Amino acid sequence: MKRPGRIAAVFSGLAAGVAAILVAVPGWFGAANAHEPELSRYGYWRDIRPLLEQHCASCHSGTGPAPVNLMRYLDALPWANSIARQVLQRQMPPWLPDDGTGDFAHARTLDDRETDMLVDWAIGLAPEGPAPAEEPEIPGAEADLPPSRLTLAEPVVIGEMESVAAACQPLVRGEGVGAAAAGFSLIPGEAVSILRRAVLYAGDDCASGAPLFTWVVGQGPRMRPEGVFDRLPEDTGLFLHLSYRKGFDTEGLEFEDAPQVVVFPPLPDRTRAVEMLAVEPGTTAVGPATLLSVLPPEGLDPGPDGFAVEAVGTDGAVTPLLRIRRFDADWAEKFAFREPVRLAAGAAIRVSHPGAIVDLVRAPPTGPDEDP
Ligand code: HEC
Repeated sequence: MKRPGRIAAVFSGLAAGVAAILVAVPGWFGAANAHEPELSRYGYWRDIRPLLEQHCASCHSGTGPAPVNLMRYLDALPWANSIARQVLQRQMPPWLPDDGTGDFAHARTLDDRETDMLVDWAIGLAPEGPAPAEEPEIPGAEADLPPSRLTLAEPVVIGEMESVAAACQPLVRGEGVGAAAAGFSLIPGEAVSILRRAVLYAGDDCASGAPLFTWVVGQGPRMRPEGVFDRLPEDTGLFLHLSYRKGFDTEGLEFEDAPQVVVFPPLPDRTRAVEMLAVEPGTTAVGPATLLSVLPPEGLDPGPDGFAVEAVGTDGAVTPLLRIRRFDADWAEKFAFREPVRLAAGAAIRVSHPGAIVDLVRAPPTGPDEDP
């Protein structure tokens, strides 16, 4: 943090509203007139929108699942205060792992400079600054998706009176879906505005099945690392667990929803199958293995010390891999390490709570010199 004092002061000020900031820290707004806030040096189009586009557009582009469109100045302006509060409290972008523990692919985080810029802009009257001649395109998440799909045997109906709903639906394998997958994606259906989370299970049902893939709001495709695939054997069932929650704008509406799961077929050089391991609290020897991701327990209550996953080397050295102190079931996903974690023979993982699922591949992919 470049100016920790300022951020800390803004934070307490925002909690009490902008008026409180003006009174509490008039110095920021020019000594001459404490009642005239100084315009932020950042402009929406030039400085702020690129940040919002990078970190918020996947959910906040108007067509997406989140209620607020941040991609246009006049739509974003009324939310300026809320933006500052949300990013300072680390509520937005939504991301469960604690700062500083683990290094994850697909992390949704802002660095201190980005946070500082958004807050500076918001408390500095959220100026528009010079506008481009033409409004820039709202970025779409148009990914190139293969046609192989899993579809619901029956659509899910969310009744008018249901504010929250959950369903576990059997899936039908479409053309091109084989016995293996290099990755998955989800295409929301009609209920895109209320679908909060989806989990693909292989097995007899959602309760006892192995979670192959998790999807949260705004998420794109998730591919396994090179050389690695997930099994989809013909003799196991596939189920999709879906969680819905209505907002003020969708309360009282009925939905009939049929999201699809995209299956990325693997290339033949994907030779190592993922194993999903339900680990008990305490230390579990798993090496030699390569850890790909951790899924926190469903319905986790992290408690004061948080949910923690650590690697324990053969020499007893402990490496923190994941810690979650603030849990929100909507955002519980498979947290995939940016670099898969290699564990030598005899190395172990230590998990704080029951019910976590660790994805790994046995037998390290490379020579022994690369093992820790
Ligand atoms: C992964 C999806 C996602 C991303 C990325 C995301 N948001 Fe959100 N945001 C949501 C959802 C969903 C809500 C609705 C509140 C809820 O249900 O949690 C929301 C709500 C908000 C709100 C309204 C809060 C209120 O007062 O009701 C603001 C402001 C906001 N987000 C700002 C941001 C900003 C700024 C960023 C980027 C730095 C961002 N969000 C990134 C999903 C996202």
